[in-house]
Amino acid sequence: MAIRGVILAGGKGTRMGELTKVTNKHLLPVGPWPMVYHPLKKLVGAGLQEILLVSGTDHMGDFVELLGSGKDHNCRLTYRVQDEAGGIAQALGLAEHFCMGSRSCVLLGDNIFRDPLVPLLEKANSRPDWAWIGLKQVPDPGRYGVAELKGERVVGIEEKPAEPKSDLAVVGIYIYPPDVFGLIKTLKPSKRGELEITDVNNHYLSQGRMGCSVLDGYWTDAGTLDSLDYANELTRKDPPRF
Ligand code: G1P
Repeated sequence: MAIRGVILAGGKGTRMGELTKVTNKHLLPVGPWPMVYHPLKKLVGAGLQEILLVSGTDHMGDFVELLGSGKDHNCRLTYRVQDEAGGIAQALGLAEHFCMGSRSCVLLGDNIFRDPLVPLLEKANSRPDWAWIGLKQVPDPGRYGVAELKGERVVGIEEKPAEPKSDLAVVGIYIYPPDVFGLIKTLKPSKRGELEITDVNNHYLSQGRMGCSVLDGYWTDAGTLDSLDYANELTRKDPPRF
């Protein structure tokens, strides 16, 4: 079954202070590139050539100016505007027509990690009708979606739990079968008013269709001033592999 890439690069960047006053956080530098190059290079490096970028109205023009058709990056880019930020699952829902019955490999545009995507994709190919997530041990799991494992099996995922059941964060790397779009249409907004990707993942979990892979290399989001700094430090010391 074919697989298409989706980069979610919306949001207001409200946690970045003055840095995002006139630009989108995914255009801020991480290493020698604008942040959005990182997810793009991961997808292209894994052999995906059809890629959708989702962002808001305010800076979509800048993304198009920066990335164009995608030909300089050996891919074909499609752009989709998210009118209002309504959560990761809502943004992914905008990829339905682009995916046209294909599976999707979804990357959050502000997640920076060392490992290439190929091993996770290969694992996911063994069960293409499952959802697959990336996990990483972190010191502060309560900031993220947190997975509870029994052996190698995910048995529960909680979004930003006050008392995390493990130190394994669900990172912004998701692979879904085509039925994810039907599922998204059934979701209700969470307390923070968003359609939560954790709710999507828990549906697959309850159906026994959830696989995971723990990343070996570093991972961080880069959505706060501190984590942006950290992402730059990590990638300077040990450049990511694509
Ligand atoms: C989102 C997801 C969370 C995930 C995180 C990874 O959190 O909801 O499950 O662990 O991305 O960066 P948010 O950035 O919306 O707080």
